[in-house]
Amino acid sequence: MSQSYDGPPATLDRPLEAGPDDWQGRAFYFLMNALVVPRPIGWISTLSGKGVRNLAPYSHFNLMGSNPFYCAFASTGVKDTITNLREVPQFVANIVSMKLLEQMNFSACDFPAEEEEFGWAGLTPVPAVKVRPFRVGEAKAHLECEVAQIVVDGNTNIVLARIVHAHVDPSVWKNGRVDPKLLDPACRLAGSGYAGLGELVNVQRPEWANVKGSRGQEAMPREERR
Ligand SMILES: Cc1cc2nc3c(=O)[nH]c(=O)nc-3n(C[C@H](O)[C@H](O)[C@H](O)COP(=O)(O)O)c2cc1C
Repeated sequence: MSQSYDGPPATLDRPLEAGPDDWQGRAFYFLMNALVVPRPIGWISTLSGKGVRNLAPYSHFNLMGSNPFYCAFASTGVKDTITNLREVPQFVANIVSMKLLEQMNFSACDFPAEEEEFGWAGLTPVPAVKVRPFRVGEAKAHLECEVAQIVVDGNTNIVLARIVHAHVDPSVWKNGRVDPKLLDPACRLAGSGYAGLGELVNVQRPEWANVKGSRGQEAMPREERR
């Protein structure tokens, strides 16, 4: 059972319980964006039927499967990106490094549909290999995608797309793989907050053969026991 507020309380003297309809305005939206963090940013490049190049960031974005490979992003409302995808159902998801934060943010301005964000943000459109929309030349990695389905529920438009090609710049490649520190992806927090990667750790996944016969805690590496 949710508690009923007009808005979120300034402080909590008990755990917060809330549903999407409990608060007025965008309070629940801010709560969700503050809880599901950090989010990667898909910097989505599309093409209109008339050939106008569009570019906009979407942080309701992620990898969504691997056989076949899918990614997804969601638009709240029908923006130029969604309109374009109905005309040309392909896009490039450009990966945003911290160095591109200002240009990425600038491209989120509510430019009219006929204006090209590439030019306004001083970014270089580079042809893709398997899709018609352009890549951001300054980005260090790009995913070329073909739209499979757009799921519409009210104002939420979820784009599900197959990943058909990837590009990686040599500058972020080390020892046979993408080096996360070199890729330096911008991580989206709530509001206008962002973060870099910070501390990196490796944790080995356990195997049943080692876990069975123990009582869980015993098989867990000592430093991870609580
Ligand atoms: C970092 C960042 C992430 C964003 N994520 C989303 C998102 O997930 N969904 C959404 O609808 N708008 C999101 N926006 C807002 C859109 O980028 C903005 O409305 C933009 O003008 C849409 O452009 P378009 O009309 O060219 O598609 C985000 C903006 C920023 C700066």
